[in-house]
Amino acid sequence: MNVRLIKFPRHTDKYGNLVPIEENRDAPFEIRRVYYIYGVEQGVRRGFHSHVDLEQVLICVSGSVKILVKTPEEEQEILLSDPQEGLYIGPMIWREMFDFSEDAVLLVLASDHYRVEDYIRDYGKYAEMVKNGRSEDGRYDR
Ligand code: TYD
Repeated sequence: MNVRLIKFPRHTDKYGNLVPIEENRDAPFEIRRVYYIYGVEQGVRRGFHSHVDLEQVLICVSGSVKILVKTPEEEQEILLSDPQEGLYIGPMIWREMFDFSEDAVLLVLASDHYRVEDYIRDYGKYAEMVKNGRSEDGRYDR
């Protein structure tokens, strides 16, 4: 699965911690968008989609959250609770986010602007697109 944990550099001194993230160095793409999710109530599960081309890095900068990443072949649950760590998720990976702690802030770095067309929100359709693979022009048939 095209998913991996990235450990960011951290500068720690008696004044606290600082974690810098640079595009194409710490995040393996050009960062075109940043957003964050917070104030998620207990029991809420969100996400439930894949992206066709988008790459993302998820960082839980406060609190903790669990991420399910899934393909038709395998699935994995990852606990994010370390602000020095990011979860890279490549294209065509189904994801769900759950078990947000009350103080959780999930920061997301994305390789592109918000594009509704890049979302696949139906798991059956996602699985079928994975099965059919990319055409010769590098695109997925929808
Ligand atoms: P949504 O995709 O439902 O969140 P998730 O899949 O993570 O549970 O997004 C919630 C709302 O925010 C939805 O109305 C779309 C909007 N949105 C933007 O306008 N820009 C963005 O970059 C993102 C990620 C969402």
